[in-house]
Amino acid sequence: MIDSHAHLNDPAFTDDLEQVILQASEAGVDEIINVGYDLESSSYGIELAERFDRLWAVVGLHPHDAKTWTSQTEDALRKMVKHPKVLAIGETGLDFHYDNSPRNDQREVFRQQLALAREVDLPAVIHSRDAAQETLEIIKEYSDVPCLLHCYSGSFEMAEEYIKLGCYFSFGGPITFKNANRLRNVVARMPLERVLIETDCPYLTPHPHRGKRNEPAYLLYTAEKLAEISGHTLEEIARITEENTRKFFRLVKED
Ligand code: NI
Repeated sequence: MIDSHAHLNDPAFTDDLEQVILQASEAGVDEIINVGYDLESSSYGIELAERFDRLWAVVGLHPHDAKTWTSQTEDALRKMVKHPKVLAIGETGLDFHYDNSPRNDQREVFRQQLALAREVDLPAVIHSRDAAQETLEIIKEYSDVPCLLHCYSGSFEMAEEYIKLGCYFSFGGPITFKNANRLRNVVARMPLERVLIETDCPYLTPHPHRGKRNEPAYLLYTAEKLAEISGHTLEEIARITEENTRKFFRLVKED
């Protein structure tokens, strides 16, 4: 399996990184895509990808930090995307739930990063919270950039609009939460060929470890729940989501 959205570049993993990667491998999670949220985490993600064969990096500025964007941010990202282990731009998008940055900054920086993705021909990893309609409108302006809606939590009707634009979706720990029937009903209707799985670790720890730090090994719980919801075996889900991840990120299997 591939954890399509992790943050081993987060300080939460400083002390036991190698152990966490080993545990992931023992749980069948052989490859991990670490997603940046600011310049520091993005460049550290690249460093990790250089150190470990089966780690990959996505680089970008989270909507929470959109207000910190300057031309230097763009220049730095432009350098990072040239690295052969950088697979995409992200996470970028809109977060109107926390509004940690002014919405106009979020919109502007989202467009800048999609423009960069278009220019360098990379896909984009999208964070969208309480902003589904506007995220859709902005993605439409860059319809040639393949987009992945990370930790999708919107309605199925909205998902259908994203599907028309060719978007992919990833699901994580929340599909295992006890009170998540609405989300599971959405997942059950999703076309499986557009679905990836992720942990978003150290956040969104799946049941039954909720409350603890999340890590890539726990991807297994999400895979098992997706198998149950979709009526597939765990092996089928592991294979299908891995293929989808490789297709979206243009990640070729090496051995
Ligand atoms: Ni994330």
